[in-house]
Amino acid sequence: MKTLKDLDVKNKRVLVRCDFNVPLDEKGEINDDFRIKQTLPTIEYLLKNKARVILMSHLGDGGSLQVIQKRLEKYLGVPVLLGKKKAGEGEILLLENLRFHKGEEKNDEKFAKGLAKLGDVYVNEAFAVCHRPHASIIGVPKYLPSAAGFLLEKEIKILSRVLEDPWRPLVVIIGGLKIESKIKVIKQFLEKADQLLVGGKIAEPILIVKGICVGRPWPLEEVVKEIEKFNLTSTKLHLPIDALVSPDETGEMYVNEAAPGRVRKDEMLLDIGPETIKMFSKIIKEAKMIVWAGPVGLFERPFFEKGTKAIAEQIVRNYKAFKIVGGGDTLSALKKFGLRDKFDHISTGGGAMLAFLGGEELPGLKILEQQ
Ligand code: 3PG
Repeated sequence: MKTLKDLDVKNKRVLVRCDFNVPLDEKGEINDDFRIKQTLPTIEYLLKNKARVILMSHLGDGGSLQVIQKRLEKYLGVPVLLGKKKAGEGEILLLENLRFHKGEEKNDEKFAKGLAKLGDVYVNEAFAVCHRPHASIIGVPKYLPSAAGFLLEKEIKILSRVLEDPWRPLVVIIGGLKIESKIKVIKQFLEKADQLLVGGKIAEPILIVKGICVGRPWPLEEVVKEIEKFNLTSTKLHLPIDALVSPDETGEMYVNEAAPGRVRKDEMLLDIGPETIKMFSKIIKEAKMIVWAGPVGLFERPFFEKGTKAIAEQIVRNYKAFKIVGGGDTLSALKKFGLRDKFDHISTGGGAMLAFLGGEELPGLKILEQQ
């Protein structure tokens, strides 16, 4: 795969796909700019080498990149023009949220060609989106000389080591919200990992299909199909044995501890319970390598932060294990608990990191390898 230093960028328009999909707070302000900071070396290198820099990213599914523009200006100290067609000498162009356009997620050819016309060369600096076959990831590099940015290169180097030769026992912890994409990697990790701990929203459809959680809405058909592919009775698979439940996400009405089979129809599972914390902790303690993506509860709310905090602390306490963590929400949780610097590698990818470590071929990497 070509990397940034293989490209001649002097006086060229360099189109850089970044992942500025950062967590925002209720007021729309940036909660955690780790992903932005991680792309700065590539942008600074391009500026230093007299390239004309055009940045593009998505942010959620619909917000403006104005908050990103301001943060970039603060860090880079040069004007960043948002949504404009042209930038002057020493200025940076930042395209508006790519997902404003339907063509992005559909990998529409016309849309990809339109993007490609804005640059002379293409740099992929968005490891966290490489599992998505979107126009800015797999469409644009068909039309331009392309390479991996410094961050993408670093992620592949470190994660490849884990993929090829993991220390054992390898314990993988999966949680979070993005059920449709994460459910696909469970099967792979049941083969690769020694223990797989599942919490957060993603645990619920598995508990339902297993027949443990009853009387709850049946999960989406595509999710059920994926669940049916893996061995639900595997002794490596560990699901919550108790949970914190409440009628809503504030937890203000009441919060109860309940076994998953006893959760009422009008209640939500919002965190793992104390018995699950104990069970998960025991397994984490024995690990030599730990991969974690996705909080195990709604850690943003004080009533439901306990499970995620306990898991984070237990991982950190295991000083002999090599610890990898990834994903926007998990990184926010670690920031909240002040534990981020205790990990060996912090990946900018959540779903992408899991897909890569699960041995999947990421479309965004495949296209760069074909260059
Ligand atoms: C992420 O946050 O994992 C990436 O930015 C991809 O976002 P997506 O899941 O909305 O495609």
